[in-house]
Amino acid sequence: MTRRILVTAALPYANGSIHIGHLVEYIQTDIWVRFQKLRGNDCIYCCADDTHGTPIMIRARQEGIDPETLIARMSKEHQRDFAGFEIAFDSYYSTHSEENRRLSETIFQRLRDAGHITTRDVEQAYCETDKMFLPDRFIRGTCPKCGAENQYGDNCDKCHATYTPVDLKDARCSVCGGPPVRRASKHYFFKLGDFGPWLQEWVSQGHVHEQVANKLNEWFGQGLRDWDISRDAPYFGFLIPGETDKYLYVWLDAPIGYMASTMNYCRQHGRKFEDYWCDRRTEIHHFIGKDITYFHALFWPAMLKGSGFNTPTSLTIHGFLTVNGEKMSKSKGTFISAATYLKHLDPQYLRYYYACKLGPGTEDIEVNLDDLAARVNSDLIGNLANLASRSAPMVRKKLDGRLGRLSTEGRERVALLQKEETVIAQAYEERRYADVVRRICSLADEVNRYYDRRKPWSAIKDNPEHARETLTTGLNAVRILTIYLKPILPGFSAKIERMLQTPPPAWSDVQTALEEHEIGEFERLVERVEPERIQAMVEDSKQTQDQPATTGGGPLTDEPPAEEIDFETFAKVDMRVARVMVAEHVEGADKLLRLELDIGGQKRQVFAGIRKAYKPEELVGRLVIIAANLKPRKMRFGVSEGMVLAAGPGGEDVFVLSVDDGAQPGQRVH
Ligand code: 2FM
Ligand code: ZN
Repeated sequence: MTRRILVTAALPYANGSIHIGHLVEYIQTDIWVRFQKLRGNDCIYCCADDTHGTPIMIRARQEGIDPETLIARMSKEHQRDFAGFEIAFDSYYSTHSEENRRLSETIFQRLRDAGHITTRDVEQAYCETDKMFLPDRFIRGTCPKCGAENQYGDNCDKCHATYTPVDLKDARCSVCGGPPVRRASKHYFFKLGDFGPWLQEWVSQGHVHEQVANKLNEWFGQGLRDWDISRDAPYFGFLIPGETDKYLYVWLDAPIGYMASTMNYCRQHGRKFEDYWCDRRTEIHHFIGKDITYFHALFWPAMLKGSGFNTPTSLTIHGFLTVNGEKMSKSKGTFISAATYLKHLDPQYLRYYYACKLGPGTEDIEVNLDDLAARVNSDLIGNLANLASRSAPMVRKKLDGRLGRLSTEGRERVALLQKEETVIAQAYEERRYADVVRRICSLADEVNRYYDRRKPWSAIKDNPEHARETLTTGLNAVRILTIYLKPILPGFSAKIERMLQTPPPAWSDVQTALEEHEIGEFERLVERVEPERIQAMVEDSKQTQDQPATTGGGPLTDEPPAEEIDFETFAKVDMRVARVMVAEHVEGADKLLRLELDIGGQKRQVFAGIRKAYKPEELVGRLVIIAANLKPRKMRFGVSEGMVLAAGPGGEDVFVLSVDDGAQPGQRVH
């Protein structure tokens, strides 16, 4: 019987780019959805951008644009990045949509009418300059426990203490740097405790992995507190029904975005929204990261239950990504954005590698870039692709492109592969992708050994029919393995289908065989991973992140002014007027310009991250300011001997500071 299945991955925030940490989840989910579709289930994959909240509002303000403009730009960028990794959504929508507004209002009203919402006054930090209440992340100050400076309002990076902004010493607003005051206002709360017994029952029914159930039981033990679901104006979000200056907290409308995205899909495909969210026979599967478990395993099912919608069938919760044994690091170049990855490497490597690493649990996922190269080169290329590339060209060139009939031995070999169908399907179903890959690789290994014994490449010379027999078995094996692999590597599989001249398969087609069949051209399936390309990606990531050789950069300022320094420290920076003599593009670096500067008889080479903002010819002849006594820095493209002063968030918006004509190169800047 076909199952009706709705699958979601967490909605990415509209103020950040997609990076390889995000991709774990979108790829994990994509594989599961592709598997379900291949099985013939009626399955859709819905996602959207998570667009509301203070950080997005502030970011747009800092860029001098409307939040709507910002989220439209980010949505395009996100969708481009996902498509680059063959992540195929059936609907990619936005939480800032009419559907989401209506659904959010409905859910709020239903919860309120059923008595699950209450109000009370809350005292919070308020900035009188910016005229807004400050979320914890927008307050910086000194940790009350260990005295570390410049810590967020909710916890300390250094000693990991958690507290409220009231406890923070010397608190400052992140936007303007001024001291916040205390101010009270009415807030709406969702009474999560009303759903305690129901949630406990729900958790015990196997909707989450055991590791997660244990964590949730701890939380039940601590008691379920009311959840603050309102925010005061100014806020980018949906107004609370009946209010004029209070908004629904972003985390309330974000998961409702799953429903809005489903609605978008239904409108485009003539389907019924109610079939997904009201018909109990439909399965709803959410894939998320462990940091947002509380929202998805407690608030969200309770909200759905309280408003009469279907509750989730399962939550699949993955761990965090570590690269080379550590958290992704900007300075080490392991904070790799999707776009940077795609400039250097084939997305199939990452899909394959993540699949090798993924299971159903919440353990962290360790990516080691050398291991990625080794695995792809030995298993994917040396084993799986090799099987196809040592068969198809020979059949084309030497055997008129025709497969023969399977011999008895061939039939037995093929049957062995077919027998694995249930085991592999079960592993996919249970999100045990590492097991899937292991199984497929060991099957391919066996077929390669069979080739090594039968040596079709020598048989072809004096006994071509013997070779045809071997290759017919081999290509049948390739076909079956490729179907097994298709959810992980759809592009790879599509190439094999073209070569075999077979239509896109269903999963059950593994039980059929190709005999007396003509095959087509062989296309190269996947190139070897070259370590230099990985290195180039890492270098490029460093470059993207640390904005070399221009000061400024980074988000405009959601941080207060940096720590105070005394005059002597400041005076150590030797700033000089310089004239740009040469400005040119740097091969292989799309953010850098190479500048040659005259600082009064002395020449300096500086690599500046301003390529997106300036054409080289606009700079030649201009006077700029450089930090002249900065230690020279060796970059991939050469040594950078100083830093050009500039302002702005980065990308196209960088503004080189200039000096009026009349100043002379080499003069000190006071
Ligand atoms: O943590 C995040 O990145 C959130 N934007 C996820 C939201 S998932 C869902 F609830 F919308
Ligand atoms: Zn302020």
